[in-house]
Amino acid sequence: MRLHLSTWPEIETYLTKSKAILIPIGSTEQHGPNGLIGTDALCPEIITSAADDLTDMLIGPTFSVGIAQHHLAFPGSMTLRPSTMIAAMKDWTDSLIRHGFERIFWINGHGGNTATIQAAFAEIYSERSLQKPTEIASSDLRQKAMNWWELPGVMDVCKKQFPTGDGMHATASEVAVTYAGYPDQVRKVEMTPRIAPIGNFRDAEHYRAMFPDGRIGSDPSQATVEKGNTIIEAAARSLASQFRSFADAD
Ligand code: NI
Repeated sequence: MRLHLSTWPEIETYLTKSKAILIPIGSTEQHGPNGLIGTDALCPEIITSAADDLTDMLIGPTFSVGIAQHHLAFPGSMTLRPSTMIAAMKDWTDSLIRHGFERIFWINGHGGNTATIQAAFAEIYSERSLQKPTEIASSDLRQKAMNWWELPGVMDVCKKQFPTGDGMHATASEVAVTYAGYPDQVRKVEMTPRIAPIGNFRDAEHYRAMFPDGRIGSDPSQATVEKGNTIIEAAARSLASQFRSFADAD
């Protein structure tokens, strides 16, 4: 069930049965020569949509622009400052709390978001903790964030599909997931070198100097629709079970 494809009476009814919502969160940033700029937002969205067929859930709008300052030397990349993202996540959360939501599960598609998501949680919990006990909202707010590739069992499936060159950025796995979600967007591009270099980076110019075509450690030319579907199937199963136990926990 999708929030944006529901009516308010339907959400009111949902809230009598569950206080839980799943929010895909990602990034809008270059993903190498054959990866879509929306990859990090599309992957959690595609996996979430497959998980929706497996268990009762409510899926919120995708938080699709995240922390991508280091990709800004590549056309099309967009970023939020960490402080902006924390403020936006807080406003999304406060809006949901206002209606009675108490369990918010952010399924993340971009490693670069992790620190800021944790900072946003700390900000949200701090506001509650800093109030006098009598003023604390009666809700039992619980937040959870997971990277989709860290869902139990998923990394093994990715490794099996791509024993070499899965990589760290513009990975074969994430490109495959987007190709499975959007088969008419498959790109055929030869990679030079076949497997991209690895290393650290600072800001946007430094990143582009270190990784000229945008990839880190990967050979995403291995990505296929079929391999993407195998990953989606495993990730959706795992996400459905993670969401169920989070939503139903006492
Ligand atoms: Ni990515």
